[in-house]
Amino acid sequence: MKKIKILFTAILIVLFTAARADEGMWLPLLLEKLNEKQMKSLGMKISASDIYNINKGSLKDAIVSFGGFCTGEVISSQGLVLTNHHCGFDAIQNHSTLEHNYIRDGFWSRNNGEELPNAGLFVTFIVRIEDVSTQALAGVSSSMSESERQSQIDKNLNQLKTTVKKESYQDSFVRGFFEGNQYYLFVTETYKDVRLVGAPPSAIGNFGKDTDNWSWPRHTGDFSMFRIYCGKDGKPADYSPDNVPFTPKKSLSISLDGVKEGDFTMVFGFPGRTTEYLPSPAVDQIMRVNDPAKISIRDKALGVIDGFMRKDEQIKIQYAAKYAGIQNAFKKWQGEVLGLNRTDGVGKKKTYETEFQKRVDADPKWKAVYGSLLSDLSALYKEFEPYALHRDYFNEIVGRIEIFGVYTQLNKLATIREKNGPEAFQKALPAAKGALSDFYKEYSPVVDRKLFEVLMKKFVEDQDPKFLDAGFLAKAKSYNGDYAKFAAEIYDSSALDESARILTGLDKDADLFIQLFRVDPAVKLYTQLAGAFNSTVVKKLNELQSKINQLQRTYMQAQMDVMKERKFYPDANSTLRVAYGNVKGYKARDAVEYTYYTYLDGVMEKYKPGDYEFDVPEKLRTLYANKDYGQYGAAGKMPVCFIAANHTTGGNSGSPALDAYGNLVGLNFDRVWEGTMSDINYDPSICRNIMVDIRYVLFIIDKYAGATRLVKEMKLVHPRKK
Ligand code: ARG
Ligand code: GLU
Repeated sequence: MKKIKILFTAILIVLFTAARADEGMWLPLLLEKLNEKQMKSLGMKISASDIYNINKGSLKDAIVSFGGFCTGEVISSQGLVLTNHHCGFDAIQNHSTLEHNYIRDGFWSRNNGEELPNAGLFVTFIVRIEDVSTQALAGVSSSMSESERQSQIDKNLNQLKTTVKKESYQDSFVRGFFEGNQYYLFVTETYKDVRLVGAPPSAIGNFGKDTDNWSWPRHTGDFSMFRIYCGKDGKPADYSPDNVPFTPKKSLSISLDGVKEGDFTMVFGFPGRTTEYLPSPAVDQIMRVNDPAKISIRDKALGVIDGFMRKDEQIKIQYAAKYAGIQNAFKKWQGEVLGLNRTDGVGKKKTYETEFQKRVDADPKWKAVYGSLLSDLSALYKEFEPYALHRDYFNEIVGRIEIFGVYTQLNKLATIREKNGPEAFQKALPAAKGALSDFYKEYSPVVDRKLFEVLMKKFVEDQDPKFLDAGFLAKAKSYNGDYAKFAAEIYDSSALDESARILTGLDKDADLFIQLFRVDPAVKLYTQLAGAFNSTVVKKLNELQSKINQLQRTYMQAQMDVMKERKFYPDANSTLRVAYGNVKGYKARDAVEYTYYTYLDGVMEKYKPGDYEFDVPEKLRTLYANKDYGQYGAAGKMPVCFIAANHTTGGNSGSPALDAYGNLVGLNFDRVWEGTMSDINYDPSICRNIMVDIRYVLFIIDKYAGATRLVKEMKLVHPRKK
């Protein structure tokens, strides 16, 4: 009996620790303490201090947060930055017109003078990271309410801000980790003059589009290039034609040797958000309630937008980025549910929780503080469920219909006029007008009206009426299911969908215009919808969320106390992290196993002439036919993408994949279909990140686009010939 017990415990420990070798998004400053040994055992040939070091240039000095939503890396001494095509897409789209369609044709600057500035785009370097938990949590006690606690922390952080050592051109911020059990300070340097240098045509940069998105095998050259410019003094500066290319502290060397199965890789970047420490009822809710609801709403929205994009080239350009964004999460959530099912995510959590509870119950000291944690959380999530569902409906429907977005922007302006007077209003006007005219460039009233018709129907029919405004409901019902008529009535009488009327109205007599705005039918409708949402949902949701946050924080601490053998990494929160794992294929499902590399041959296998997802540019076909790969091919073939077991998430797009020596070997851009649930419950058997091989990137730049001037800036190396 005892033997069996010991064996069982051993199995559990293996389950919780060893099997998780590839899991984790680690803080760079803790690598030496927590990970270096394991990284070396997986094949890493450099040390933790080559990755993160505040006293000398280290790899971290070549990594940037790209615009706050993606990652980029510096690959030349002249500030050249590499990121994904889908990360640079907004910039590419903004410079595109029907005549100069850079989305379709690609863009290549021939000299620095042709590189294109992008208002609003920035890159941020991390200068230094510090654990400031003690200062942040000073005076905080467990008897405090959530709001008391927060105001004590805010006070501490304000105090801390005044003492941070940094240069005048640097910034700093503090963020909570492990659900607020720890705090870290980041000193940063942000550059705001970031210019577009080059991008392949979408047929390469987004080859396979939505059909191939989130899946393997993949054949996408998902990259674009930018350059950081700075003042003549080398410091951050706003855009100016006099700015000069930035000289980085460190730029990445690029390996031409590729990777083989089993090779060590690491991904360095800014993962956005994960929730790895939820209890089983919360995971169950995501799978059963939230993901399915959001999927079914987005399905409708995508159907509408796709219908218009296919028959109208102008709308296709206008809605390209929006469509890709909506589709991306839509597809990810489906993979997430599937992967959680397939790996029994809830069951695994339950096993873990049983062990946790057993250990807690066995120790009176723990039992007193942690004894009812899991059951309390379970009860709270149950209460949370209907409100969370309604929140999803509101965000996905009211938040998607863009006439309501116009409301939000104009309302800000109107409120300034009403609260702060005409002078403040005039001051705010130019920026607001700028934002609105940018918005209208990517807006079609016809598409929006159809979205209203289709989504409002769902909004009314799917939801418990008790969450909806009675007046709104009566009005909606009065159309007897004819939502086209409902839409027509709103859009025919509202001015918000007419860019010319709004923009000239603001120019002519802004005061009168704002008065008219208040009685616009779309405004009235929005007020009803938002009013009911705020009073019946938001208040309760916030109240429950704050209780959940508190318990999740305790649960996090409890796990760290009780599950001592487990190494914990903090959930992603858009701060700099390192993930590492070996190159390997995976078994997707019964009888289906994937290898880890794809080649240009696979692009040609998928080629469908004229297709909007799988067309292949003629030049690329010719290069393929002639096997004209220059120094970038390997054994007569052109490698395209590969996978490895790095734990990544949204925000890691554009992150460098580095080899054992820290050389750039790939560019992270996606995860495999079965493994997108790694945001909630990583499973080493099917979680893989997808990278484009750096040799394919160079091949496209050099051989396809002829932008050899860019390759000349880079440092190419052959680590295998060492
Ligand atoms: N799935 C990847 C990510 O989450 C790529 C998205 C862009 N590509 C696309 N076809 N929408 O960002
Ligand atoms: N494509 C994602 C991004 O934009 C990265 C892939 C992922 O979510 O893992 O950040």
